[in-house]
Amino acid sequence: MLDGLALKNQTLGFVPTMGALHEGHLSLIDKGLQENAKMVVSIFVNPTQFDNASDLKKYPRTLESDIEMLKSLSEDILVYAPTVEDVYGDAIASETFDFDGLEHQMEGKFRKGHFDGVGTIVKRLFEIVKPDFAYFGEKDFQQLRIIQKLVEKHNLGVTVVGCDIFRAEDGLAMSSRNQRLTKEHREVAPFIFQTLTAAKAHFGTENAEEVTKWVEEQFKKHELLELEYFTIADEETLQPVETKEKSKSYRAFIAVFAGDIRLIDNIALN
Ligand code: PAJ
Repeated sequence: MLDGLALKNQTLGFVPTMGALHEGHLSLIDKGLQENAKMVVSIFVNPTQFDNASDLKKYPRTLESDIEMLKSLSEDILVYAPTVEDVYGDAIASETFDFDGLEHQMEGKFRKGHFDGVGTIVKRLFEIVKPDFAYFGEKDFQQLRIIQKLVEKHNLGVTVVGCDIFRAEDGLAMSSRNQRLTKEHREVAPFIFQTLTAAKAHFGTENAEEVTKWVEEQFKKHELLELEYFTIADEETLQPVETKEKSKSYRAFIAVFAGDIRLIDNIALN
């Protein structure tokens, strides 16, 4: 796509999305616009990365307003919004990947086959779009690490750029799924980031097991939010931390149900 750019020594940036665009997506696109001559934004709700049929069915789809928003943002944005058939033909299936163990933790444990689906679609999109730079949010930190691994193992020749988590003023990480929260759940959802922030303070003096217990207790007391997992892991390997080492960077990862809406977040600990 846009092969002519290379001739002019200009770069092509890429932000893959599943649409229902929000400020989190826009922060990635803005960064890309500053760093590249042209940007491709893809909008595709990828069926192979959903482990839950109802989540796929109910995933918000706002293609027309997404396209309008992108068009009004910049002339340098090209939107790629394929159909399921364009991408998969009549065989909606994932490739199987080995991401050196990154895929077995957290989201990989709780959403079977999820990262094979993500790997399949991102590899395919990279082959179609052929970007120089691709932007991924730390909101999905495990996904970001897995895409870096995908590029490295398959020599895809794309530079992967990690971007900060964009939050609402009350701390809730922006997500397309936030649209589906009830008013009540939306009001209490900032508790997730508040707990992560407190967990970070605890991690200064306590070990990972103690911090995890403390977080689990906070959610047991909460009437509207249900904790699926809280894990403190090594940022590099995503393995759960056992003993803290000064030379390593750690991050806390969380998944929470607000009714039937599943929200994830994470925070750097050191
Ligand atoms: P989606 O959830 O639409 O997210 C697209 C990109 O936006 C991802 O890189 C995600 O991490 C980033 N993003 C979402 N919310 C963010 C926030 N609050 N702050 C910063 N970045 C945020 O992630 C996917 O789609 C899909 O798995 C995809 C990579 C497109 C493959 O289908």
